Amino acid sequence: MSSGLEATSAEGPVEALAPPILTASGITKRFGGLIAVNDVSFDIPDQSIVSLIGPNGAGKTTFFNMLTGLIRPTSGQITLSGKNITRVRPDVITGRGVARTFQNIRLFGAMTALEKRLDRTARADARRDLRRGRPPAMGPRGGAGGPGEGP
Ligand SMILES: Nc1ncnc2c1ncn2[C@@H]1O[C@H](COP(=O)(O)OP(=O)(O)OP(=O)(O)O)[C@@H](O)[C@H]1O
Ligand SMILES: [Mg+2]
Repeated sequence: MSSGLEATSAEGPVEALAPPILTASGITKRFGGLIAVNDVSFDIPDQSIVSLIGPNGAGKTTFFNMLTGLIRPTSGQITLSGKNITRVRPDVITGRGVARTFQNIRLFGAMTALEKRLDRTARADARRDLRRGRPPAMGPRGGAGGPGEGP
């Protein structure tokens, strides 16, 4: 079954300016019968910012796990600054300057459902303030001492 990420390197003006610092060639990862990443080739030019996009389950995390050595590709090769890092340990890859952060989708165990809801509302309010060019308000809205309370 193939439901995974399939991509080729982007061709753009930035690639013409700088040679790739990181290259993934023909990367495939199989989990049993499921092909999570299917023959992906991806170049990251030096001095560039690139992104990898795709729907849920497309294979993005699996691909990043291979770039950073957390899992090994079934096939394909990854090079960093011209050196093969396909089977290099994650700590060694990190030492060469490639690191990742992890999605944290866990709930905060110490907060009640109401506190989580309030925190979410406060963040939405702060984003709205920033969109309107205002400094984000701190503290509860409309409550005692809050910015929603008029003089
Ligand atoms: N360790 C694993 N064992 C078996 N299947 C896996 C494993 N890790 C990922 N998969 C499967 O590989 C596919 C790609 O998953 P992956 O997590 O890489 O996708 P994603 O693009 O990061 O998705 P999301 O946008 O939801 O984070 C999915 O079908 C997933 O269920
Ligand atoms: Mg993911």
